[in-house]
Amino acid sequence: MSSKKIILDVDTGIDDALAILYAVKSKEIQIEGITTVFGNVSADQATRNTLQVLELADANDNIPVAMGAKKPLFREWSGPVIHVHGQNGIGDYELPEPSLQPLEEHAADFIVRQVNEQPGELTLVFVARLTNLALALAKDPSIAGKVKGLVLMGGALKTFGNVTPIAEANIYGDPEAAHRVFESGIPITMVGLDVTRKAKFQEEHLKQLMDLASPENEKMIKFIEHIIRFGIEASVKMNEGKCRLMHDPLAVGVAIDPGLVKSENHYVYIETQSRLSAGATVADLRLSRKKTETNAAVCVEVDHERFIEHFIQTVASRDERGEG
Ligand code: BDR
Ligand code: CA
Repeated sequence: MSSKKIILDVDTGIDDALAILYAVKSKEIQIEGITTVFGNVSADQATRNTLQVLELADANDNIPVAMGAKKPLFREWSGPVIHVHGQNGIGDYELPEPSLQPLEEHAADFIVRQVNEQPGELTLVFVARLTNLALALAKDPSIAGKVKGLVLMGGALKTFGNVTPIAEANIYGDPEAAHRVFESGIPITMVGLDVTRKAKFQEEHLKQLMDLASPENEKMIKFIEHIIRFGIEASVKMNEGKCRLMHDPLAVGVAIDPGLVKSENHYVYIETQSRLSAGATVADLRLSRKKTETNAAVCVEVDHERFIEHFIQTVASRDERGEG
């Protein structure tokens, strides 16, 4: 079976770390590179965390990491999200110093180069602010027609926000970048809060994962146990319930298997002006309005049980990379 080639863009906090491990362990996906950006943590910390997580999964020697934007296109970065992801972004877990360095190349240049070298081949999976992609599109708008698609974690169509009453963090964190990406013509699958809010990882799932894990994954499972427990505690404090929402892993899950979700095609606009609603993802849902043009498949339903099951099976599985 041929696997899907992806570039993954992350701001490595807790759910990004889980998304990276899920993608690394998936046989259905081949990661061509990981790009990093400010968001949950600084771009430098996200890069360090990414290298460490790859090393933990023994995947550091064949996946290049390119660091990208340190701030939004036109705004200031509001700083790390410590109450959700801890001081270092990974629940204050101490992983060994990374032995490898990121590429010299900026993330935006890496994206432009990879897409041009492999036209029609790459799916972009973005689980962070869309700044690196907006920069890549500014450098070479033709890449919009050369990617297979963009699966992004971000936005909220028919539900409330998580960082403001109506905005989701990845879109709110750089609305101008999101606007440019949504207007670029890239075929978008939006994996927003409408579905990620249903992807709850609970204590019982952690137990299943730990019971299933092959012994060679011990270090990785210990890390996952820590960050999930840290995450559950944070979620309880935020009244999100006794679970961790699997925002970023679900975007990877949808890239692997689009059948996990049902979507609706809409023209999604990004609000960039208003004080109260900056970062909102707005589509005209009035039935009386005939849709003539759309720019995104917005996920509205998810088979969350099948997704969590697939996540557990994949992450717990014995590592068969390189075995013929
Ligand atoms: C998104 O914002 C970030 O904090 C998370 O990593 C996720 O990508 C959820 O709104
Ligand atoms: Ca993220």
